[in-house]
Amino acid sequence: MKRSLSGIQPSGILHLGNYFGAIKQFIDNQYQYEGMYFVADYHSLTSSTDPDALRKNSYDIILDYLALGLNPENSTIFLQSDVPEHTELYWILSNLTPVALMERGHSFKDKIDKGISPSMGLLSYPILMAADILIYDTDLVPVGKDQKQHLEMTRDIAIKFNEKYGENIFKLPEPIIIESLAVVPGTDGLKMSKSYGNTINMFASKKELKKQIMSIVTDSTPLEEPKNPDNNITQLYSLFATQEQLEKMKDNFIKGNYGYGHAKNELLEIILEYFKEAREKREELEKNPDYVKEVLYKGAEKARLLAKNKIIKIKKAIGLLGNRY
Ligand code: ADP
Ligand code: TRP
Repeated sequence: MKRSLSGIQPSGILHLGNYFGAIKQFIDNQYQYEGMYFVADYHSLTSSTDPDALRKNSYDIILDYLALGLNPENSTIFLQSDVPEHTELYWILSNLTPVALMERGHSFKDKIDKGISPSMGLLSYPILMAADILIYDTDLVPVGKDQKQHLEMTRDIAIKFNEKYGENIFKLPEPIIIESLAVVPGTDGLKMSKSYGNTINMFASKKELKKQIMSIVTDSTPLEEPKNPDNNITQLYSLFATQEQLEKMKDNFIKGNYGYGHAKNELLEIILEYFKEAREKREELEKNPDYVKEVLYKGAEKARLLAKNKIIKIKKAIGLLGNRY
């Protein structure tokens, strides 16, 4: 069975972009591949420095994974920082990675352009991601389009390592990127992202969710007049609606006498309906922290066993003596 692995940074509350771009693929494929899904808490240290927020966001992502339907009996669900072999491999790989490769990172360059003064962690972020993936002999990595370059870097690093130390030490992973879901737009029409303040959060309170949906940017065409049917609302509606429902909304826009407010209410209803079960399940899980801890404990045990075996092979290949095992 092929192994699928992915992680999400606990840098904020999860949103529709994270769900459609990544988590939905984890869940849809959970019985087809062996899944390993983690919280990339070490990665989020490159941006977050608030311990309370980090703790809460990490725990929340686990609740979200479980509430959305990831089955811990099937997939390994864990925290990156519970498996120290990730950071061991990170160090090993960083010695094979040219600084220039890291400086070409889109995400690194974007942050510099925003005036962030880069840390070593931010520069070498993709090397830790490569370690996350390569330590488990991962076949497939379901992610949104913004992670494509990181996957290419992972492959470059693995190829370099294999050439230097032995052909088959690392498997070359392939991304799973679903084109139609690769970039979910936010309330302003740009890519939905925790860092742009344009998110719709599927687990927000009904009131907050409504507020987010009402803030979707539209033009000021008066109610009676026909409107462009390809707007920010229909783009989001299309993620949930059947073809028929979508056509109907678009027709209403074309005909006129249909306001953006109407459409936003329909979008709110369909989102609440789509996530009804998950929202209820999440409330139940919130009352059961012992179960959540148990999932994390078992997940860490399973992941560590695999990672430990792999790091022994890697250390041997590069000439580290080691007597720990
Ligand atoms: P954010 O940009 O909100 O910080 P992350 O970088 O934590 O999101 O992304 C977690 C996962 O969700 C990644 O696989 C990423 O590609 C995916 N993702 C994030 N935003 C979107 C989006 N707007 N559309 C599609 N996928 C997305
Ligand atoms: N960089 C990813 C993101 O921001 C998170 C991540 C860390 C990841 N390690 C990974 C994703 C390994 C896939 C595989 O979304």
